[in-house]
Amino acid sequence: MASEVSPAAPSRPFSDRVWANLMMLAEYAEPDQPGWTRRVFSPAYLESRQVVADLMEATGLEVTRDAAGNLLGQLAGAEPDLPALVIGSHTDTVAGGGRFDGMVGVVAAIEVARRLRAEGTRLRHPLRVVDFLGEEPNRFGLSCLGSRAVTGHLDPAHLQLRDASGLTLGEALVGVGGQPEAIQSARWKANSIHGYIELHVEQGARLEETGRRLGVVSGIVGIHRVRVELVGRPDHAGTTPMGSRLDAMQAAAQVILGIDRIGRRQEGAEGVATVGQIAVEPNSPNVVASRATLVAELRSLDAEWLAQGDQQVAAQVAQVASETGLVGELSWLSQEAPVACHPTLRRLLAQAVRELGVDPVELASGASHDAAHLAGLGPMGMLFIPSRGGRSHCPEEWTDPEQVALGTAALLRAVQVVDRAQL
Ligand code: GLV
Ligand code: MN
Ligand code: MN
Repeated sequence: MASEVSPAAPSRPFSDRVWANLMMLAEYAEPDQPGWTRRVFSPAYLESRQVVADLMEATGLEVTRDAAGNLLGQLAGAEPDLPALVIGSHTDTVAGGGRFDGMVGVVAAIEVARRLRAEGTRLRHPLRVVDFLGEEPNRFGLSCLGSRAVTGHLDPAHLQLRDASGLTLGEALVGVGGQPEAIQSARWKANSIHGYIELHVEQGARLEETGRRLGVVSGIVGIHRVRVELVGRPDHAGTTPMGSRLDAMQAAAQVILGIDRIGRRQEGAEGVATVGQIAVEPNSPNVVASRATLVAELRSLDAEWLAQGDQQVAAQVAQVASETGLVGELSWLSQEAPVACHPTLRRLLAQAVRELGVDPVELASGASHDAAHLAGLGPMGMLFIPSRGGRSHCPEEWTDPEQVALGTAALLRAVQVVDRAQL
């Protein structure tokens, strides 16, 4: 874990500084994890967020932390009664993640604020830069913690979710400076934002494939996440005949293949289905597995596809349970609907990109974002920069320095254009 790095000097040129800050942030990684892991609530995350707060402060932003552990930096506008224009993203990563997913949006947003101040440009609206708490899935089974909280969707029941050690989400929140008992105070009023713009790496290969440098997002997929529990019986792996077993591992394999088939069935609308997590007990080579717990997710831009997928997952588990004699139980962890980006904001973002002399492409996001939640509060739009080879959620995640610089320039231009617009 790095402790001797310091924020890039403020005199550095625009593009260098954003890149230097990104690389500096990446050094705050969990030492025992692969890649650039910085999961929410980890010591590395705590340390890195202090660095982000310091960067915000050095930029002249008024820094606060809310009851949900979000980190906010505000720049006053010329018309203080106007609602804030919000920009930002997240700085936590998945296990074995990269250096760009989320971080680009936060570091670029801070740079935008710095540039505005340096150039003496006063926006009409207050500018709010946000590092949302814990966007990625975590050990409590709930992602987008901070953006849920500002929209009023992190409720007391969520705060009672427990990790494997029995710690509650509320208790973990205290560790990042949150106040679970005051969680509702983190909520922003309806229509209290002028708009929300998030710059993010694409995490797919559309931009690369189409040879474009910047994308304007049309919409964000909905995600339905479900926990499947298969309960059988532990038995000796050498002495129990194949026909007498209640094997949770074998049943899990059938469920996993069934869910994969749901993702491959593309009738009209498109979607994807993934089982990315599994735990088995007792997890021993010479014991028939007694319990398998897996987490599956379905993603689509089509709400109907997701609803049908839910039914197909339930039917799949019921069928495997009845054929194997195991108990199969499902609990839905989240069912987030697909979200369309605001049409006027889409147009303005495309305009801002063109003003930089770049032709943008419109594309949908197969990844989810804090932006999907912010759409509940006001106009939401997103800008994408390329991800090399479409790779993301892995250590190889990469975006060239010039692409990061161009994305930052597009975000700055977008902020200036949207500030003057009626949405
Ligand atoms: C967010 O990173 C997601 O899972 O799409
Ligand atoms: Mn991610
Ligand atoms: Mn992200």
